[in-house]
Amino acid sequence: MAAVRMALNQIHSTPTRSGKLLLETAQAIRNRQTIKVLSGDDLPAQGMGEGLDQLLDLAGWAPFHRACDSSHRSPDDSSSSGAIEPWRFHVLDAANCRTLRQRIPLEQAGKIPNMLAAADALILATWLPNPNSQPDLPAECLFEPSMANMEHIAAASAAIQNLLLAATAHGIRTYWSSGGVLRSAQVFELLGIPTEQILLGAVFFFPTDTGEADVVSSKLRASRSDASGWSRRINLG
Ligand SMILES: Cc1cc2nc3c(=O)[nH]c(=O)nc-3n(C[C@H](O)[C@H](O)[C@H](O)COP(=O)(O)O)c2cc1C
Repeated sequence: MAAVRMALNQIHSTPTRSGKLLLETAQAIRNRQTIKVLSGDDLPAQGMGEGLDQLLDLAGWAPFHRACDSSHRSPDDSSSSGAIEPWRFHVLDAANCRTLRQRIPLEQAGKIPNMLAAADALILATWLPNPNSQPDLPAECLFEPSMANMEHIAAASAAIQNLLLAATAHGIRTYWSSGGVLRSAQVFELLGIPTEQILLGAVFFFPTDTGEADVVSSKLRASRSDASGWSRRINLG
């Protein structure tokens, strides 16, 4: 961390074009944090307009190693348009978040309705598993544990992280959730998400102006290690 701080100080003192870019990138990465906004009442729906399209465009610059299987690119799949990326983003604006709040099964919903009452947008980010090649895959397996599937998940995760960083740079509060009730077959059907897709993240965008709503941050953030805790230098000399 000290090395990063030193580098950032140097960048401050020499504001070259690449230094400014590095500083802004570092700021977006470090400023990204989980923030949940929970409201009992619907907050006014604020349109994100074209801003949301720009963020989605930036998410799409994530690396991906393989095209998704052709079964995910069929003309019958309205969420696909033939795209080869191994992820799909299903996007609800604030008004649709409020409507979804009224329609999800409340008994399994936990705090999701309170977040739908507050969100400016919800992006349900799925990844696209290859069809199983093993007929005897155990029923509890969500997908075949193959190298290709691992790479699809990694690529979709990179797209989500791009989205989070781009949103952070725009001053939007974000929360990457596993999804809870939003993973259910009932919600997938309601939103027209094909059951062949697997939810990787329910990404909430929250406003900063939240009135009486509760604002909650994450538990693990403060327990982060220094890079020396999870990296090692290899010297073969
Ligand atoms: C794949 C994934 C799933 C997550 N699911 C949840 C979740 O279901 N509930 C939750 O409270 N936080 C969830 N989080 C957020 C993490 O708890 C959070 O990122 C972590 O505590 C670090 O905090 P930070 O994001 O503020 O740095 C998830 C994060 C990731 C990457």
